[in-house]
Amino acid sequence: MLIQRIPTGIPKFDELIEGGFPVNSMILLVGYPGAGKTTFSAQFLYNGATKHRARGVYVCFAETKETFLRNMLRFGWDFERLEQEGRVAILDLSVTREAGLQKNLDTIMETMASLNASRLVIDSFSAIGMGLKESIDIRIMIHLLYKFLKKANCVSILIIDQPWGSSSIGEGISEFLADGIIHLETYFDEHEMFRRRLRILKMRGTNHAKMPCAYDINSRGFVLFTPEPSVPKVERKRTAKRKEGAGASSRRTARRGTVDLTEVKGIGPKRAEKIKTLGIRFAEDLAESNPEDIVRFLGVSEKVASTWVRNAKAAVSKKKFF
Ligand SMILES: Nc1ncnc2c1ncn2[C@@H]1O[C@H](COP(=O)(O)OP(=O)(O)O)[C@@H](O)[C@H]1O
Ligand SMILES: [Mg+2]
Repeated sequence: MLIQRIPTGIPKFDELIEGGFPVNSMILLVGYPGAGKTTFSAQFLYNGATKHRARGVYVCFAETKETFLRNMLRFGWDFERLEQEGRVAILDLSVTREAGLQKNLDTIMETMASLNASRLVIDSFSAIGMGLKESIDIRIMIHLLYKFLKKANCVSILIIDQPWGSSSIGEGISEFLADGIIHLETYFDEHEMFRRRLRILKMRGTNHAKMPCAYDINSRGFVLFTPEPSVPKVERKRTAKRKEGAGASSRRTARRGTVDLTEVKGIGPKRAEKIKTLGIRFAEDLAESNPEDIVRFLGVSEKVASTWVRNAKAAVSKKKFF
């Protein structure tokens, strides 16, 4: 049976999940502060409303509506106008947090019904938990929310704020109930560069991408690059060992990046530029890449991609030999 899919509106993301979120699904979006959770979710609603005729509701629990509107304008997303046109509603429920979860859910449900909305974002799910009085069991809250979402007949993104350094995702219940889990990770690479990568940990009924996918946030919003070039297990082990010793990163730089992409048979300067947009900068990177990813992101045939990788391997070993 074919699962109906909802395009996310995030460029290239749909390709990672067979075309979009499964209809009527509850997605957890997890990440550290500043990872891009709000940006991703807002883009999902904005493009949904402007490109896919899908109305949406954004619920701010963590930040105020004013802050949200102002920040989103920086990406050119005028949510105020969409709200005036009845295509989006932004609910600022932070002040009524104490009023109780059920009352908040009623407000959300009424807004969704009056707008005939099919997309919902709760920013954040963690903030609801914090707003609850201690006596209220968090499990009851989650089950209440889950039942509510299934009734709401929409795709929902629940944002989970992950504390710095924490490796756990939620509180242990929502992960089981969720139809999908997306993890946004920020980290510093071996050159102390700030980087971002996304992983899909779960997407029910979907043959989703298994590789981490580099992304950035720029003036246009959330931008995905490509799955990072796959590093074979042997290479990964060697890299880990090298990292342990002093001066590891300089040795690594000296060894890598010596063979230019244009030295690979069949790759001219124009093609090299295209390949570089995938984060594949040198023949060594290309030699370790998965042709499937190149096919997916550059739209070339499988035969061409495999030939490039094979020729890159040849170019690298030739260079080593001489
Ligand atoms: N207009 C912008 N241009 C480029 N990068 C931006 C812009 N606005 C925000 N960012 C980046 O996005 C980050 C915040 O993203 P946000 O979606 O608010 O994260 P989260 O909701 O996960 O905390 C900032 O730390 C910054 O790196
Ligand atoms: Mg946020």
